[in-house]
Amino acid sequence: MVIIKTEQEIEMMKRAGELLATVHKEIAKIIKPGISTYEIDQFVEEYLKERGANPEQKGYHGYPYATCASINDEICHGFPRKAPLEDGDIVTIDMVVNLDGWLADSAWSYPVGNVSDEARKLLDITKKALYLGIEKAVVGNRIGDISYAIQSYVESEGFSVVRDFVGHGIGRSMHEDPQVPHFGTPGRGLRLMEGMVITIEPMINIGKYACTIDDNQWTARTIDGKLSAQYEHTIAITKEGPLILTDQE
Ligand code: MF3
Ligand code: CO
Repeated sequence: MVIIKTEQEIEMMKRAGELLATVHKEIAKIIKPGISTYEIDQFVEEYLKERGANPEQKGYHGYPYATCASINDEICHGFPRKAPLEDGDIVTIDMVVNLDGWLADSAWSYPVGNVSDEARKLLDITKKALYLGIEKAVVGNRIGDISYAIQSYVESEGFSVVRDFVGHGIGRSMHEDPQVPHFGTPGRGLRLMEGMVITIEPMINIGKYACTIDDNQWTARTIDGKLSAQYEHTIAITKEGPLILTDQE
């Protein structure tokens, strides 16, 4: 069941989203070779708590950390770790902020130091794919229009779209209906209505889209060991068009 949000509720989610966006901007400043994702995770948890917010992921189905930190061939749900990041890594930091009971969800991929041209291209295309999807998040369109915009662009660039993880509705809980796949057919799926709030969060691989899950039962990584990236925003569908609640601009 899709839970439609009022303007006031979207305003509450926007406050959570603005806080989340400031966290990403802080991470962008401190991320470099030598820092660990464990340190970043602790920074995020403290930053949120000092501002009266909570990291919703911690304890969610037993997930042990405030953030997911997925390095190189890790697709998502990477565990923060004490090993320092190395020059040339790419790392996706994903988090859900709970502020006064309303949630926002945003993941961002970061280059660490100097990355290869191929990694840079993966980051650029993945980010562009997110924004192409967001453009389609308008009243009257269907979920498949978002899915298709992302898939057709990414595949035209020779990269692949992960199938096993999708975007989702969000509100007072992290995962609500509908599901938002990043692959699919235009004109298909649920019709978008004013007051829906969804995430769009394409995970894009250089090689095959298939993944395996680590022994920790959480971390997904590419089956061929090639790089994966992800950018995610929380989006409200409004009469005026898509409103990016986690915008960093
Ligand atoms: N932020 C993720 C999403 O987009 C959720 C991570 S799973 C968790 O759905 F358990 F770590 F929270
Ligand atoms: Co999400």
